Amino acid sequence: MKQANKSTNQQLGVVIVGHVDHGKSTLIGRLLHDTDSLPEGKLEEIKSVCDKRGSDFEWSFVLDAFQAERDQAVTIDTTQIFFSTELRNYVIIDAPGHREFLKNMISGASQADAAILVVDATEGVQEQTRRHAYMLHLLGLKQVAVVINKMDKVGYDPEQFEKAARESVDYLKSIGLTPAHIIPISAREGDMMVARGENMDWYKGKTMAEALDAFAVANPPVARPLRFPVQDVYRFDEKRILVGRIETGILRKGDTLFFSPTNEKATVISIENWPESGSIVEAHAGQSIGITLDEKIFVERGHVGSHAQNLPMLSNVFRANIFWLSGKPLKIGNSYTARFGTLETKVTVQSIDNLVDTQDLKKQKQASGVGKNAVAEVTLRAREMLPVDAYHDNFKMGRVVLYEDHDVAGGGLISMEGYPDQRQSSSPKSKNIYKVSHSVTPDMRAERAGHYGGVFWFTGLSGSGKSTLAIAVEKEIFERGMSVYVLDGDNIRYGLNADLGFSPEDRTENIRRVGEVAALQANAGIIVLSAFISPYQTDRDRARAAIPQSFHEIHIKADLATCEARDPKGLYKKARGGEIKEFTGIDSPYEAPTNPDLVIDTQANDIDTCVKQIVDYIEASVKTSSTQNNTNKEGRVVAL
Ligand code: ADX
Repeated sequence: MKQANKSTNQQLGVVIVGHVDHGKSTLIGRLLHDTDSLPEGKLEEIKSVCDKRGSDFEWSFVLDAFQAERDQAVTIDTTQIFFSTELRNYVIIDAPGHREFLKNMISGASQADAAILVVDATEGVQEQTRRHAYMLHLLGLKQVAVVINKMDKVGYDPEQFEKAARESVDYLKSIGLTPAHIIPISAREGDMMVARGENMDWYKGKTMAEALDAFAVANPPVARPLRFPVQDVYRFDEKRILVGRIETGILRKGDTLFFSPTNEKATVISIENWPESGSIVEAHAGQSIGITLDEKIFVERGHVGSHAQNLPMLSNVFRANIFWLSGKPLKIGNSYTARFGTLETKVTVQSIDNLVDTQDLKKQKQASGVGKNAVAEVTLRAREMLPVDAYHDNFKMGRVVLYEDHDVAGGGLISMEGYPDQRQSSSPKSKNIYKVSHSVTPDMRAERAGHYGGVFWFTGLSGSGKSTLAIAVEKEIFERGMSVYVLDGDNIRYGLNADLGFSPEDRTENIRRVGEVAALQANAGIIVLSAFISPYQTDRDRARAAIPQSFHEIHIKADLATCEARDPKGLYKKARGGEIKEFTGIDSPYEAPTNPDLVIDTQANDIDTCVKQIVDYIEASVKTSSTQNNTNKEGRVVAL
């Protein structure tokens, strides 16, 4: 057996995929042999077993023999087979045909730089070919070579090759993948694998081995921002060691580390090359280390250390493009255990935004369930803030795996598209500030005005009727002699929020400011009607937190089709035409309230009915003070 290639320590991870029976095992067996990567005597051993049994030798037996050995040797990583070319070393990730393949790919246990898609020259693209190819696309794998196998079976006919090649390329193109090479091979006979062979002189392109050598090893994760997910915290007497593996970037002694989601920071005073003894000054992506800090900040498993210049996002809601493996369909409202790096938490499926049939790539919007082997874009929500990276930004961290009864049910890549970073210092920036208390109480104000203040927060899609209703309700309430004021999205964006656009972050800041202003006005005794799309539940919850006792979330409800048909400002038309980007409901999310205080259905009711419903609700709410538990200072129930 050839020694691992010592001239380079570069290793390229290759995943070999394709439809069952299209020859993956044969290809691997042959590849190991032709690259001289089999242990001495292995081939002879297998051949003699075949002779004894009276069966013909098959290259796939080589792989079977490998697997049999690995199944016994628990210490060997069951997902890796090594070989090398003159240029560099390779690791084949996972065995073909295994259900484990999908699991490993999804969970990120296996990281491939490149893929070989095996297609049978006689059968062409089949169901599994499509599904596996879609997986490659889903996992962001761009370096793909297609091998049209079993050319010996079609008499090495270039036309058969062309036909299968065209079919493969057409499918790959339709999912956004362009194969770098398409190679006719016979895995059984070895043609165009490592040697060119003598049967396909008409083919002038690269052999499979040459094609592999032409692929690039992924950008080493050391060049990326630091992510140190804490796996455990060990305590030795006074010393506290945070252990984990650096997923990306470099960590140095003396660095100030920020931990997410806590926003706590401390300086690294030592890096232990755990479990070996001895300290080091620098550790890189891929290394498992222990660190000690200068301050006893709160850190636990799942927290992520990073540098201040490049923090992960914090969010309790995110999108994921997932591949579903479980026999039990994923459904809206279902909860699963989700693992992100070392963090495990419960998430609930908020919506299924797109369901993709891997057969015909038809997208179905707003599905209610995702069945086995389907691919879907889902929105997931956790109770607490999580440090997350989109796969796009960090291929090591940007994955989520969903478990059901401790078994991998599905998983995929995180996308933060349409969702804001919710990292905001929860405490004020300024120091040395002290709150003063008012001597005019809400009761005193209410006594004079005849009602309490409150925030009536209208949320809904653009065109659902928020502004129309707010303006009509304002008039009605005003005419009843009460103090009322509308804060309207479009108006506020001319003044207070003139600096904000419609990016997820800007929308969040828009609602944060308005939430604070609304609370101030309500404290001043005003009935505030706020009409903002406010698409994120978290933002609305934050607005509520500014004045919890007097906040009322009102869902102005009309579905997208209705709002689009109304299109009072012609904006949907523009959004559909691509003139407006990040338009709510089109290419930016809207999260309907999970637990609204009032729902106003503007689809089913006319304006007058809706106005009356809201006015009645407001009147009932502002006549008593919920601040005081509906009791006044003497403890009597206030009945105005
Ligand atoms: S929010 O999402 O940040 O709450 P806000 O309610 O302030 O939005 O503003 C929404 C109004 O801005 C819409 O009624 C519409 O008139 C206008 N608008 C312009 N561009 C967009 C967009 N991309 N998405 C939604 N509304 C938009």
